[in-house]
Amino acid sequence: MRIGIIGAGNIGGNLTRRLTALGHDVFVANSRGPHTLKELAQETGATPVTAEEAARDAEIVIVTVPVKAVPNLPSGLLDGAAEGVAVIDTNNYYPQQRDGRIDEIEDEGITESRWTERRIGHSVIKAFNGTYAQDILDRPRPAGAPDRVALPVAGDDEAAKTKVRALIDQLGFDTVDTGGIDDSWRQQPDTPVYGLRAGTAEVTKALAEASPDRPAAFRG
Ligand SMILES: NC(=O)c1ccc[n+]([C@@H]2O[C@H](COP(=O)([O-])OP(=O)(O)OC[C@H]3O[C@@H](n4cnc5c(N)ncnc54)[C@H](OP(=O)(O)O)[C@@H]3O)[C@@H](O)[C@H]2O)c1
Repeated sequence: MRIGIIGAGNIGGNLTRRLTALGHDVFVANSRGPHTLKELAQETGATPVTAEEAARDAEIVIVTVPVKAVPNLPSGLLDGAAEGVAVIDTNNYYPQQRDGRIDEIEDEGITESRWTERRIGHSVIKAFNGTYAQDILDRPRPAGAPDRVALPVAGDDEAAKTKVRALIDQLGFDTVDTGGIDDSWRQQPDTPVYGLRAGTAEVTKALAEASPDRPAAFRG
């Protein structure tokens, strides 16, 4: 598949490594420009590009940048993507440590992924947001392995969600459906599932135990 990755940090870099190893055609972007991604390109065979180019003709686009950087993404980012593109959002809102207060999230009580959808003008599938970046490299297991980790996945577009769950399976993880984007608070920071390294049953239980109240440490 042609996959665009926007953000080449901890998560974007490791997804670039794994997805190229699986044989996907990966186009990767950061904020400073393709010339700063030569090393990652050499290591993985991914093509360094601008954010617009990463999305162009992509069947899957992964947005993996600090939440505060989402408004800086080019407008019409997804206009040139393949029809039916699935957009993965890995992002977490850290108002106190990194992102600053985002009024729309705080005042309307919306999930950060809903807010991201509004900014980029496209539906998203929330995945990997509670996964340690290093685990993307260290924890893949074949289907059926007793210690295979399950990742929660939320989104409103069922076809896109199916596509993303299949990709995550290829990457070596099970998935559990969290529900729609309005339900994605169940996998946001500080919930029981956030950072949980466990299989499907435990992840399902943790999602059910989540509280919709955003904890004080994660409010701006
Ligand atoms: N680290 C983790 O283990 C982890 C786990 C799960 C979820 N997350 C979430 O996933 C997101 C990414 O985390 P991370 O740790 O990978 O972040 P990171 O290491 O800080 O990397 C962020 C990347 O985003 C790029 N970027 C920033 N603004 C951009 C823009 N306008 N256009 C294109 N690229 C831009 C940066 O490029 P430059 O370097 O050129 O500025 C950098 O490559 C965050 O929302 C984070 O909360 C992280």
